[in-house]
Amino acid sequence: MIPHIAERYIRFAQWEAAGRSPIYERLALHVAHSQNCLGFLSALPADRQQPNLLFAAVRHVAGHISCPEAFDRVIHDQAEEVATVMRRRTTQTNEPGRCAVLLPLLAPITGPIALIEVGASAGLCLLPDIYGYDWGDHKLPPPQEFAGCAPIFQCSASPGTPQPVTHPDIVWRAGLDLNPLDVTCDADVAWLEQLVWPEHQLRLERLRSAISVAKHCPPHVVSGDLTQDLPALVAEAPGNATVVIFHTAVLTYVADQQQRDAFAKQMLESDAIWISNEGPRVFPQFSARAGQPRDDMFLLMQNGQPLAWTGPHGQQIAWLSATGA
Ligand SMILES: C[S@@+](CC[C@H](N)C(=O)[O-])C[C@H]1O[C@@H](n2cnc3c(N)ncnc32)[C@H](O)[C@@H]1O
Repeated sequence: MIPHIAERYIRFAQWEAAGRSPIYERLALHVAHSQNCLGFLSALPADRQQPNLLFAAVRHVAGHISCPEAFDRVIHDQAEEVATVMRRRTTQTNEPGRCAVLLPLLAPITGPIALIEVGASAGLCLLPDIYGYDWGDHKLPPPQEFAGCAPIFQCSASPGTPQPVTHPDIVWRAGLDLNPLDVTCDADVAWLEQLVWPEHQLRLERLRSAISVAKHCPPHVVSGDLTQDLPALVAEAPGNATVVIFHTAVLTYVADQQQRDAFAKQMLESDAIWISNEGPRVFPQFSARAGQPRDDMFLLMQNGQPLAWTGPHGQQIAWLSATGA
């Protein structure tokens, strides 16, 4: 058990934090070699041992900590408080910046859209039509009524990436989540902020501005499990709209590959457009067509067809050539 947890933290340091968060890279490597931290984690349920959850819980209890020795002291002296947060909360990072990699697929859809997000957290990715975008040599400002208050997401786009000229026409939207968070609840908002990595000040500012806009039009997110409860939500969508079902950074939490595959089959057999933005190992049956898996990136797919590698926080999109290279 302990070697398995240590390996997980080393993988996190190498593939997720390296180059993106020196503090979490350092802390994750420290955890992987600290008997104190590993012992603490091994007493928690297996689905509560993730690095992001541990680091956010420590921030919740003790504030910003970047020094391994201080981190160890919190785990030793305030173990019960940290464990309580880790049992009560889950990793629900809501990154609206991911809309910058979704928009090249959403914008070309003609006619009204009924947008459904599974694993929506607080539903901030359900509002792609109110944000602004800056893809480097191509920009799309927020709609007039949100100018000046909606965040503008920067995303470096490779040549060949479709360049949206308008926002998608979303006439109905809904999210599904095991534990919906509420943008109007201070405790939920505080948790969403604690999930943002420490050096990512720009992400934090964008999150805050997305939340402040979303408070005026709170996304409708219902409680449910994507492996069971999606058909009931789809049935609520208006009949005159194209149903688009999407998810980002979610299916990785469905641990059972058979359940993931059953979900993919359900999507492909449905009339909906299915957009998946997940780590490349989540659906190996499709990602093989994108070439060598890139463990530091997500793979963007539409109806099982790989289209682009994307930065996990929506900071980058690298469109695949027609051959998938
Ligand atoms: C990392 S967050 C991503 C949130 C959002 N998609 C985004 O990209 O900002 C993963 C979310 O998936 C939800 N989730 C995990 N497993 C789920 C399941 N089986 N059914 C519904 N939601 C699930 C979690 O509760 C969490 O809110």
